[in-house]
Amino acid sequence: MRYFIGNWKMFGVPKSISILDKINKFVKSDKKFNKKYKVVITPPHTLVQSYAKFFLNKKILIGAQNCFYKDNFGANTGAISPLMIKSIGAQYIIVGHSDNRSEGDTDVMLKAKVESSLNNKLKVVFCIGENKEHKIKNKTFEVLENQIQSTLNEKLNLKNIIVAYEPIWSIGTGQIPEPDDLLKTTIFIKKVLKKIFKKQKSPIVLYGGSVDSKNISQFKKLNEIDGFLIGGASKSDQNFIDIIKNYYR
Ligand code: 13P
Repeated sequence: MRYFIGNWKMFGVPKSISILDKINKFVKSDKKFNKKYKVVITPPHTLVQSYAKFFLNKKILIGAQNCFYKDNFGANTGAISPLMIKSIGAQYIIVGHSDNRSEGDTDVMLKAKVESSLNNKLKVVFCIGENKEHKIKNKTFEVLENQIQSTLNEKLNLKNIIVAYEPIWSIGTGQIPEPDDLLKTTIFIKKVLKKIFKKQKSPIVLYGGSVDSKNISQFKKLNEIDGFLIGGASKSDQNFIDIIKNYYR
């Protein structure tokens, strides 16, 4: 199974649903391949409920982009908990995106977010990734292993966790890792996950960072990569559809 997950970040108003409607129609018509992949879109919180309702029992699955780190209800102005997100129909949640890490998400907060999301039956897309300095100093593996170890543990159910490897230097820059490096990194991440989760289900690891309809073909041969977390290119139905088409063509 491959995942094409679109992270809209701070984009979208109610009528932007037409973008998803076109993607949904494409997936429905893509009979030759559509059993091989899942499409998940994470719009901003303001749109999760209406979009989840509209796409209920259709091809597109809806998720949210982030949540507060405390459970359920609380005296936390402006905060939205996993329970609240689940209650409006979201099925997935992104946790640990570098945008949020850079705005103050700590490992302790991320651990709480992951646990609370799983407790509320959301599937977690847990993001990890090194910055440019880590990469230059050859610290990538160390950073990734730390990010994984400090948030995930064997008591969690790996079946409901997807890890997205998003090198920070690649997000929104048009730069993507060399295929060889990406393969090695993906294999490393899976090794770390297998060490933690032992005989639980095989880990699912996605790549994210400047994926578009032109460079997607470079990822085709990298079998270890289970899918993609797509930012900018997920805001256009044509780009997103072309990513899927070019991946299977
Ligand atoms: P871009 O695809 O715009 O580089 O964004 C990647 C990303 O951050 C997805 O979460």
